[in-house]
Amino acid sequence: MRDLTRADITGIVDLAEKIESKAITINLSGYLAALLFFEPSTRTAFSFDTAIKSLGGNSLMMQSPENSSQQKGESFADTVRTISQYANLIVMRSAVEGAARYASELVDIPVINAGDGANQHPTQALLDIYSIKKTQGRIDSLKIALVGDLKYGRTIYSLVYGLAHFKPELYLVSPQHLQIRKYVRDDLVSLGVNFHETSEISSVLGDADVMYVTRIQRERFSGQYEYEQVKDSYQITARMIEQAAIKSNFRIMHPLPRVNEITTDVDALPCAYYFQQAKNGVYIRQALIARLLGVA
Ligand code: NCD
Repeated sequence: MRDLTRADITGIVDLAEKIESKAITINLSGYLAALLFFEPSTRTAFSFDTAIKSLGGNSLMMQSPENSSQQKGESFADTVRTISQYANLIVMRSAVEGAARYASELVDIPVINAGDGANQHPTQALLDIYSIKKTQGRIDSLKIALVGDLKYGRTIYSLVYGLAHFKPELYLVSPQHLQIRKYVRDDLVSLGVNFHETSEISSVLGDADVMYVTRIQRERFSGQYEYEQVKDSYQITARMIEQAAIKSNFRIMHPLPRVNEITTDVDALPCAYYFQQAKNGVYIRQALIARLLGVA
C-alpha cells in the first residue's frame, strides 16, 4: 500500500465506480489470472475469481498447496516462475510476509498481494476506501475508528497507509496487548496523521463517521494463552449502537470473517455495511486488474 500515491488510489476508486455504474466496459477475454492461495480465503479468492470471470477473463485457482509440486520439494521461486509461463497475472496470499513482493521480483507479469502474513492486504484497503467513499460521499477529512486487533490485523496496516493520504482523524481502539505496531505509530507521526489511541469503544462511538472492526487474528498468536486473554475484548451489539448518539452517516465496516466481535443483531441496523463492503471488492479488483493489464 505504501507504493501507492493518492492519485493511484483515487484513480482505482474512480475506475471501480465507473465499472460498477456500467459507465465503462472492460473486456478481459484472452487473459488468464493465477490465484495462488497458500492461506485460507473465502471473500478475497472468490471476489478475484468473480472479478476476472465476469469481465470475460479466465482464472486458475490453487487453494490447496498440498496439491502443488511444492509438496515434492519444488521451491517457491520455481513454482512462481513456472506459473508465470501460463498466466498474465498472479494473485497471491501467503502466511509469509513479503511473499508477493518477492514473487514480483522473480517474474515479468504483475503480482497482486492478496494478504501476506500479518503484514499487508492492499486490495482489502482499496475496497475499504471505496466503501468509505460510497457511504460518506468523500474520503477526505473523516473520523475513522479502527477497532480490535491492531497488532496482527494486516487489513489495518494497509488501510492506515492508504488513509494517510486523505487527512483522516484516526481512533485506534484496541486492548493494550494488541495496539498498533510502533513503526506504524512513528510513520503516522511523520506523515502528519492525527490519531488517538484508546481501549474504550464507547469513547469514540458518537464521534466516528466509520467504525472499522477487525477479528482477533488467532492464527498469528504465539500460543492459546495469549489469545484467550484478549479473544473477547470487544463485542459490538445492536443495543450498544442504539444507545449511543451515533451520527446519521455512521457506518460499521469489517473485512470479514467475523467471529464474535459484532453480534448478528447488528446486521439489520442501517449502519451495518460489511456485506455490501464485501461486494465492493469485486469492482475494486476489476479496476486494479484492468489497470495492471493495461486495458483501462
Ligand atoms: C481478512 C484477512 O484475510 O486479512 N480477510 C479478508 O481478506 N477479507 C481479515 C481477517 O481474516 O480477519
